[in-house]
Amino acid sequence: MSEPTAALVLGASGGLAQAIVSELMADAAIDRVIAVSRHSAPAHFSSGAAGPLWIETEYSEPAMATVVEQLQPFAGQIIRVVICHGILHGDNLWPEKRLEDISAESLQTVFQANTVVPVLWLKLLHRLLKSKQRCVVAALSARVGSIGDNHLGGWYAYRSSKAALNMMLRTLSIEYARRVKNVKIISFHPGTTDTALSKPFQASVPSDKLFTPEFVAERLCGIMAAAEIDGQLSYLDWDNKSIPW
Ligand SMILES: NC(=O)c1ccc[n+]([C@@H]2O[C@H](COP(=O)([O-])OP(=O)(O)OC[C@H]3O[C@@H](n4cnc5c(N)ncnc54)[C@H](OP(=O)(O)O)[C@@H]3O)[C@@H](O)[C@H]2O)c1
Repeated sequence: MSEPTAALVLGASGGLAQAIVSELMADAAIDRVIAVSRHSAPAHFSSGAAGPLWIETEYSEPAMATVVEQLQPFAGQIIRVVICHGILHGDNLWPEKRLEDISAESLQTVFQANTVVPVLWLKLLHRLLKSKQRCVVAALSARVGSIGDNHLGGWYAYRSSKAALNMMLRTLSIEYARRVKNVKIISFHPGTTDTALSKPFQASVPSDKLFTPEFVAERLCGIMAAAEIDGQLSYLDWDNKSIPW
């Protein structure tokens, strides 16, 4: 009999995350989907036993460690992890257009959500992911986190938090290759996708370049299913093409 399998979606209430939860639930290779969020499960996930296991938490390190303890029964079974945390705008938070818009408070808020929380998950999860089964981790990054691709400027906090996330993931990949050899890490750019995060910026996006979350979820899950366990971080877009660092 084959080993049981599970998938973990972190930051599960977002537009992309919900589509990823649904895509993973439809995957016959995955027995159980676990979703972790600050919010309670949306109605379409909470009804009936067929929904994901939904865990509510805040994102302090002790609270996240408690979630990881709760996940102990799934040790060695997790074959997919998708880290979805990301903020671009919010209350008193808007992407900077010029130097005068930069504020220490906004930088700290954005770095906490986009860089610190994803990295803490990978710190806390490593023992749970160690297994004989191959496990693919994707963190939702963004093309604007590419230093080489930055020709427009602006969006200081968001860009630099994603560049920092990429560096963290690269560094984690090197240590995971020594200590958790069954894991492959991908830094993933979904493309501009129709969610609350991109809503205020969609007017200038041609309709064929604005993806549905379902389309992106299908692409990401396909890329994760095919990924080779090579001990390297890959920085890939929705079309499975490499992005320059
Ligand atoms: N949509 C796009 O066009 C686009 C393009 C490039 C990259 N991305 C990236 O894709 C990811 C998902 O974005 P989305 O479009 O699905 O946006 P979304 O619908 O706004 O979802 C936001 C996500 O961030 C988490 N989050 C929000 N505030 C947080 C905070 N203060 N601390 C920690 N986590 C927080 C939420 O988790 P909870 O469930 O806990 O609320 C949720 O997973 C993000 O990393 C984003 O940067 C999106």
